[in-house]
Amino acid sequence: MSEEDAERDERDPRARDEHDSSTDGERDDLEAVVAAVRERIEPDADERHRLREVADRLIERAEAAATERCPGADVMQVGSTARNTWISGDRDIDIFVRFPPELDRETLAEYGLEVGHATLPEGHEEYAEHPYVKGTVEGFDVDVVPCFRLESATEIRSAVDRTPFHTSYLQERLDDDLTADVRLTKQFLKGIGAYGSDLRTRGFSGYLTELLVCEYGGFRDLLEAAADWQPPVALDPEAHGRETFQDPLVVIDPTDPERNVAAVCAAENVARLQHYARSFLEDPRTEVFEPDDPDPLDESDLRAHLERRGTTPVAVRFEAPDLVEDQLYPQLRKSLEGITTGLDDRGFDVFRATTIADDTAVILAELAVAERPAVERHDGPPVHVRSHAEGFYEAYADDSDAYGPFIDGDRYVTERPREFTTARAFLESERLFDVGLGAHIETALAEEYEVLVGDEIAVLCEEFGRELARYFEPRP
Ligand code: UTP
Ligand code: MN
Repeated sequence: MSEEDAERDERDPRARDEHDSSTDGERDDLEAVVAAVRERIEPDADERHRLREVADRLIERAEAAATERCPGADVMQVGSTARNTWISGDRDIDIFVRFPPELDRETLAEYGLEVGHATLPEGHEEYAEHPYVKGTVEGFDVDVVPCFRLESATEIRSAVDRTPFHTSYLQERLDDDLTADVRLTKQFLKGIGAYGSDLRTRGFSGYLTELLVCEYGGFRDLLEAAADWQPPVALDPEAHGRETFQDPLVVIDPTDPERNVAAVCAAENVARLQHYARSFLEDPRTEVFEPDDPDPLDESDLRAHLERRGTTPVAVRFEAPDLVEDQLYPQLRKSLEGITTGLDDRGFDVFRATTIADDTAVILAELAVAERPAVERHDGPPVHVRSHAEGFYEAYADDSDAYGPFIDGDRYVTERPREFTTARAFLESERLFDVGLGAHIETALAEEYEVLVGDEIAVLCEEFGRELARYFEPRP
């Protein structure tokens, strides 16, 4: 290994993926690595005790406030802190207040907020499918969420009504070994950047991780299976027998056959798990469990990449709309798709593209072709298709801006002036608004935006150095 490689490996342990070979001792290595990671992520007795104390106190308060308003209500702790599958240092307490199904929606929403505020006097309201109260108590992030208490998850009226069923289902199946393996798997997924069902990450949710660990029987078994997955991969833990989903990973919700628990998990996160499962089984190491932020790219690194690649980056930069990430990222992706299609359609071939956001947001497209000649070819119908052909000929015969019509093969062809000869001209024009854009992105662009071409994108380093490092130094 060269000195440069050695240095890179030190910064980036994953860079070794390709050139390490397996030896017989590696089963033991794996056990040693797993033991070291467990040590770090397992909450100790003290941490558990503090959580229990806070949770019990809040549950009691919520119960009092709920039954005062509705005698049939009850309170349930859900999520990973109820199932003991939380990771040391991560601390969200999810408290669900269940009301009888006879209650109407409005009253449920009203009682839900009242109970939330009674439980969390310092809390504030947030809006998911219906509003709930969120707050911080002694360092724990607490959600108090109202839902209906139903007989079965198939009767749900909104997504949160399912959550208590998840908790009961898993509580029956998770023993201490599986619980420890769930934590390990969550940390592994966090390390490789594939944990979380939020629409920015589009990865593995906590519940999905728990189901996968149960289904395969543990962390290592899951990795060994994932290493050989042939998507679409379909799992149906309760044999509901309905696999009509189109996603790369399908895990039929044991509590609701209509739902794929892995519906938001993107193909790239399935592939990412497969990659790191192979690489970790081959070369077990603790670093995989640590998310690693690359060093930010500075302007001179960026220029060196552009020189080496010979591509032309173009960026559309605007003020990021004030939206939660679950709304912002789908809109950014839609706009990315629209703008890259708009570029491709006009002959500006997109080599690779991405979107990034913080205070400002950027649609970045790296072009293989950024300039086109003044004319473009326009094919007409075959001459023998008489009525179409005559129509085409007549339409262009007197057009002094166009060359032709002339005949190429059996068709009429003209060469006419191209609307945009540079990608910049297209991006700066009103035509940009003809492509598919997310609704709030369109509004933001209508307000103001900036187009950066080539080296001009270097100004993005200040706000987006790490994102640009991820783009120009990509890896799995
Ligand atoms: P959390 O997002 O807090 O997940 O949702 P979690 O299982 O507690 O995992 P971590 O350790 O905090 O990351 C709490 C519960 O809400 C339901 C699940 O039942 C989950 O356990 N839920 C959450 C869903 O059904 N779907 C989701 O996309 C998110
Ligand atoms: Mn949680």
